[in-house]
Amino acid sequence: MTVETSTTGAAAIDRARIKQLTEQQMDLLAQRTQRSKELYERAVKVMPGGVPSSFQENDPWPVYLDRGSGSRVWDVDGAEYTDFHNGFGVMCIGHANPAVGAAVKARHDEGTHFAAPTDGSIVVAEELADRFGLPQWRFTNSGTESTMDAVHLARGATGRDVILKIEGSYHGHHDAVMVSVYPSLEELGERDDPVSVPYGGGYPRALTDLTRSVPFNDADALASVLEKLDGKVAGLIMEPAMMNINIIPPREGYLERVRELTREHGVILIFDEVKTGATIARGGATQRFGVTPDVITLAKAICGGYPGGAIGMSKEVAELVASGTVHQYGTFNGNPLVMAAAQATLTEVLTEDAYAALEAANQKLRSGCDELIARYELPCYTQGLGAKGCVIFSAEPLYEYRDYLTKVDGELSTLAWLFHMNHGIFMTPGVEEEWTLSIAHTDEDAQRFLDAFEAFARDVTSS
Ligand SMILES: Cc1ncc(COP(=O)(O)O)c(C=O)c1O
Repeated sequence: MTVETSTTGAAAIDRARIKQLTEQQMDLLAQRTQRSKELYERAVKVMPGGVPSSFQENDPWPVYLDRGSGSRVWDVDGAEYTDFHNGFGVMCIGHANPAVGAAVKARHDEGTHFAAPTDGSIVVAEELADRFGLPQWRFTNSGTESTMDAVHLARGATGRDVILKIEGSYHGHHDAVMVSVYPSLEELGERDDPVSVPYGGGYPRALTDLTRSVPFNDADALASVLEKLDGKVAGLIMEPAMMNINIIPPREGYLERVRELTREHGVILIFDEVKTGATIARGGATQRFGVTPDVITLAKAICGGYPGGAIGMSKEVAELVASGTVHQYGTFNGNPLVMAAAQATLTEVLTEDAYAALEAANQKLRSGCDELIARYELPCYTQGLGAKGCVIFSAEPLYEYRDYLTKVDGELSTLAWLFHMNHGIFMTPGVEEEWTLSIAHTDEDAQRFLDAFEAFARDVTSS
């Protein structure tokens, strides 16, 4: 996904130089990925944009991958990269992880799908309850399904219709949350009365109007909106640390205040931990920040590269599902193959020790970037939590989406991405994504990243 941001952050860096280097690096990327170009030309004939999901689109064409092992991936032209993209933050276990592979192979030989419950779903639900502190769990097939079910639960629990979300946040592509995802500054409206902006076509206006947004890290704006909409709001869905506009952690005390306010107004609090869940601590952001919501949505890293998600619920919310008041369905929910992958991922691979190692590796990588940023006087800073980190191309810290729109240097971010790709670092395209480390990443992998970042820093600052 591409978000237009300003170019004001890096006044010290020559804009003409950025433009020239971007053209050079884009040409180099195109030259290096000729086989991807061929596949792209074939793919566009049968898939819109030549990709299975629009998030995989990229200029000049997507880099098509062939295989992965541990911390490495290889593209169809045979180039090897250290993978910091990690499947949009899914592959914390490393590619072709042997423990998960063995569990999936064993399960395959015993049958892969029954649409009847198996032991695996109980083990995974027990593990999630232990990690996140919510007692009841159900399974889904993606983050989108998890957040869709969470919205149904909030509405079912309260008998109200309005959903609040944070402006600039992405929670999947169903009607209730495809609102104010990446609106422009002009579209946003007042802080305590933001406009509901549909994210693309296909959503009835009546549904878009039922979702209202508030800025992140501003409990006063939330209090004001809750006051104005008193008795109408079913739920607030939010990432406890924003991870779709780089990484923005919560300010001290913010989540606690959100918890108080939602309780006072009878609003179901949903933490969307699709990104943070299995990556920033054993019990995700819920454990890390010590605030427990009513509902947690998970997907991505919990199933070790298989398509699954989960929803955690308080006892009261779970009763709605158990009693059939809110329907939570799915042919593939709790699929045995996915559960085998999730069980091995959560109980054998992503252990407490693994989280400690990921945190330490991330700190080290961030420190290396910080040193280079200081040495080359770059207008950016690092941010990180657990396995996830990023260099944010803004001279000042970001606290919310409005900062992101006005302070991030989109051109510099794009140039850094090109340097990484052309120096053997596979990174998420776009201005707003972060890196994800896996347990397979070594010091050598981190050094490779730092070498690429230094090449960028040197070239962009030399005249
Ligand atoms: C925070 C968050 N929630 C939900 C989703 C949707 O997940 P999925 O792509 O599995 O539908 C995403 C996807 O990036 C996400 O980042």
